[in-house]
Amino acid sequence: MKALILSGGKGTRLRPLTYTGAKQLVPVANKPILWYGIEEMAAAGITDIGIIISPETGAEVKSKTGNGEKFGLNITYILQEQPAGLAHAVQVARPFLKDSPFVMYLGDNLIQQGDLKSFLDKFTQQQPEALILLREVPNPSAFGVAKVDEKGRVLQLIEKPKIPPSNLALVGVYFFSPLIHDAISLIKPSARGELEITDAIQCLIDQQQQVVACNLDGWWLDTGKKDDLLEANRLILDTCLTKSILGDVDTKTQIIGRVQIGAESKIINCTIRGPVVIGNNCYLENCFIGPYSSIADHSTLIETDLEHSVILEGAKITGIQQRIIDSLIGQRAELTIAPRRPKALRFLIGDDSQIELT
Ligand code: TTP
Repeated sequence: MKALILSGGKGTRLRPLTYTGAKQLVPVANKPILWYGIEEMAAAGITDIGIIISPETGAEVKSKTGNGEKFGLNITYILQEQPAGLAHAVQVARPFLKDSPFVMYLGDNLIQQGDLKSFLDKFTQQQPEALILLREVPNPSAFGVAKVDEKGRVLQLIEKPKIPPSNLALVGVYFFSPLIHDAISLIKPSARGELEITDAIQCLIDQQQQVVACNLDGWWLDTGKKDDLLEANRLILDTCLTKSILGDVDTKTQIIGRVQIGAESKIINCTIRGPVVIGNNCYLENCFIGPYSSIADHSTLIETDLEHSVILEGAKITGIQQRIIDSLIGQRAELTIAPRRPKALRFLIGDDSQIELT
């Protein structure tokens, strides 16, 4: 059994962060999203992983993630020149996949930890040509949607239907036998110009091949947008964070609940109410850090109130008089109070940024 994790794509929904970095490397609880997927593979006992990368962000994904040693598995990187669709990514990965069955995992998706193994076991026992995961969602029109019979056989897949036949959305995890390659060779690009994996699976269904579905009861998040990413951060902090204080915390600081503070970080006169994770070499002075905040390495926060937010590496926030909530602040971004008159707002904001002021 092999795994193919998709870490290419355009990442338009997470701009401007994706102008300078891969969306799969954006941290959730201070760990790149992509790594959760890799760890799921390791937990399921899969040791041979291919990761699809793009020309724009591939080098960064490779240098951060490495050859797999730190996860206890082997990683092969596969360059996809164009983000021409999920089925195209499988096509490009054929020399790596050969005729092995494989699990395909979208690198910006998160599923509840420990869930993958049971689906892998079902796939290995039943040996269908494809096994897909479905999750009930309130807004199926935003997803690929499946029509399933009472035995769990998939009858039809429809990409973002106007009138959805069910509320069962396709989760970004798929198990395939090598027959999927034949199906992919038969499909044509969709209206949006991509080779769609849903079309390839539909092709298997049309050929009366066995395509089965499993319902995912645990949580699933597609972290492609800011609010989904914040929700993923909340869930991971809620379920996985343990208390650990490595940095220097002065006596005036109050720490409540599950809080992690990395090595060489300095915390002076702050109130930190967990769950909160603060990385290495951060400097925090006179701050309130509220629940569900993740602050990455080398960040500086002074005179700042923060809650339910994700701060990326090297960001600097000082003297902001209102509480910052529900925010995603990019690497090395600076948010400071004006040091001189006139009192005014002064901005240097990247393309596609979003600012809400009161
Ligand atoms: P999407 O989120 O569907 O596509 P995208 O990355 O282009 O994002 P956006 O809609 O914001 O522009 O892709 C799901 C995952 O698959 C994501 O991790 C990127 C990856 N991917 C590839 O590796 N190759 C591809 O050709 C496509 C379309 C996606």
